[in-house]
Amino acid sequence: MAIRNILKDEDPTLRKVCRPVTEFNERLWQLLDDMAETMHAAPGVGLAGPQVGILRRVVVMDVGDGVIEAINPEIVKSEGEQSGEEGCLSFPGKWGIVKRPYKVKMKAQDRHGKWYYLTGEELLARCMCHEIDHLDGVVFLDHVDEIMVDKGGKR
Ligand code: NI
Repeated sequence: MAIRNILKDEDPTLRKVCRPVTEFNERLWQLLDDMAETMHAAPGVGLAGPQVGILRRVVVMDVGDGVIEAINPEIVKSEGEQSGEEGCLSFPGKWGIVKRPYKVKMKAQDRHGKWYYLTGEELLARCMCHEIDHLDGVVFLDHVDEIMVDKGGKR
């Protein structure tokens, strides 16, 4: 495993639309392992392909219950609403209040290509929406009314 460089701020790669993953091979598994290690080291609760310069539909998340790998993920159902603070490893020191669904159901493939469904609430729902946005070149700053900046903060 290796820690990969996280692209930041105005890097144009963060604004690209990613292509689906079609090959579930050792190269993908290496990427997933590296992304999980990079996310944990940062530390953060989610990381998407474009953040490490890979324009493929790959996401890793860990809100405290272990690593979730989501390949070609899609939100298939969402319910309710939550409003709360959000930040991103690609925008260190910046945060804002973002409205997201309270509960979402995601469809995704695992590292072997098997489709699965995962339902998450609160932080996990927020994380799924945030990471899947990254795959379409959308970042959380696009959803905030006011960008907050904290110097030396942990976000
Ligand atoms: Ni992010």
